[in-house]
Amino acid sequence: MCSYHAMMTASRSARAWHHALVRELRAGLSSLRPPNPFEKPFAGGSTACAEETAVTAAKTTMPADDPGPSVANLDTIVSLSKRRGFIFPSSEIYGGINAVWDYGQLGVELKNNVKRAWWRAMVQERTDIVGLDASIIMAPQVWVTSGHVANFTDPLVECTTCRRRYRLDELPGAENLTNTELMDPEVVDRLGLKCPADAGPLSAPRRFNLMFKTYMGPVEEEAAQVYLRPETAQGIYVNFRNVRETARKKLPFGIAQIGKAFRNEISPGNFVFRMREFEQMEMQYFVKPETAATTFEEWMPRRLAWYVRYGVTPERLRFREHRPDELAHYAKKAVDIEYRFPFGWKELEGIHNRGDWDLGRHQEATGENLEYFDPATEEKYVPWIVETSAGGDRAAFTFLIDAYREEEVRGETRVVLAFNPDLAPYKVAVLPLLKKRDEIVEKCHALREDLAQDTMAVYDDTAAIGKLYRRQDEIGTPWCVTIDVDSLEDGKATIRDRDSMEQIRVDLSQVKPLILERLAKARA
Ligand code: GAP
Repeated sequence: MCSYHAMMTASRSARAWHHALVRELRAGLSSLRPPNPFEKPFAGGSTACAEETAVTAAKTTMPADDPGPSVANLDTIVSLSKRRGFIFPSSEIYGGINAVWDYGQLGVELKNNVKRAWWRAMVQERTDIVGLDASIIMAPQVWVTSGHVANFTDPLVECTTCRRRYRLDELPGAENLTNTELMDPEVVDRLGLKCPADAGPLSAPRRFNLMFKTYMGPVEEEAAQVYLRPETAQGIYVNFRNVRETARKKLPFGIAQIGKAFRNEISPGNFVFRMREFEQMEMQYFVKPETAATTFEEWMPRRLAWYVRYGVTPERLRFREHRPDELAHYAKKAVDIEYRFPFGWKELEGIHNRGDWDLGRHQEATGENLEYFDPATEEKYVPWIVETSAGGDRAAFTFLIDAYREEEVRGETRVVLAFNPDLAPYKVAVLPLLKKRDEIVEKCHALREDLAQDTMAVYDDTAAIGKLYRRQDEIGTPWCVTIDVDSLEDGKATIRDRDSMEQIRVDLSQVKPLILERLAKARA
């Protein structure tokens, strides 16, 4: 039994779990966190012009055990995202569309890197998990069988004056109601709840199904109605037998998938935190029923450690177990990994013990045999499922927020996105000290082209060098390479590190191998 498991069994206190986990993660942090590539200067290099820094943390008054957010105001991240090309409102020139966002030139790189890092940890580095890419539109009966048509609902109330609609459990005073209380027709009156916008009377709650519907084929009739998947998981369950047989997997094994999901959320918001179109990174682990509880507890710290491995501050992560009355219809047990967002502790990823709910129901509905025959024990059973369900957008958002730093450098504010280099949109920027010297510019282009064969490299000459460094800091580029007049004589270039701002001079021929070596270390 690992110390974390022992502690969980001994104490059900979420706070105790969190503190012990943070201690455990801190103790093992050196192995989880990639080393700072500039902790040891490059061999043979000299360091010039170190810029003085003082880090200023987000200043807010917090309860003693609240680490506080990395950035006090979400608007800081929203405006940086728009200004620098991470995230734009969808269809902006038409006035936008609520809760749908587009990823710009830097956002798409960040999100792709996050998805690659997840795939590496969940598929590439493991022998017991394989990948899948199932379709978004599935046979509509899948969603009846899975329970989503009947149960994938949120409690909706409507202001009878202004007609605004709210998710009841998000109204002040109703956050901690049980599922039964949330559907109680008297609950609004009993708690004296009013419309937050105009204090008008609110209707009794009703169930609102979150699935988007559309029609398949040329006739818009009920028989042609299909759903946009609200979770990627069902695509895995209906392919369970296909994958197990063709991959020749024995239990326990997992199937991982990254893809779009759609939910007609009643109250989306907080930028990309809750959207109507988003991506999930889900893994379904199929196990012998008796081992599901242990497997569940193994995945919890493993998934939390993944966020730490890629740079999220451990103190801003915690577990929260769902109360029995808040469990989703398919879950026997659920624990969220929560992150301390600027708007509070919120779910980042869910870990669920789904029992035999999904495979059992699909077997019953289709008459297809989805049992597993265990050759070792000659037993036959429907596997149980332990699911890890992360949001691709929510993870990228978290890495973006947690990387945000403001520092004082020579009396000026330097904004830095201190991404793990593996997640950074651009790994290296190649900058000419003098853009009017053709020989310098040519060398820069040649170097960028060479680097771009292996990694994301960018050239920029649109400002003076100090400004170019600040621009790259603000988008999280770990290394800048500058070619100057001396480079023409001595064949060397300056590499500047984003975090320490240290500069070293190395042979031009060494730039690419050194950058790739540091990148590989960050990935390890
Ligand atoms: N298959 C299980 C499942 O879908 P969930 O807790 O409803 O579980 C899993 O969702 C994850 O998907 C969440 O932890 C979150 O990261 C992401 N997610 C869910 N709804 C979302 C939304 N409306 N916008 C962005 N991400 C969302």
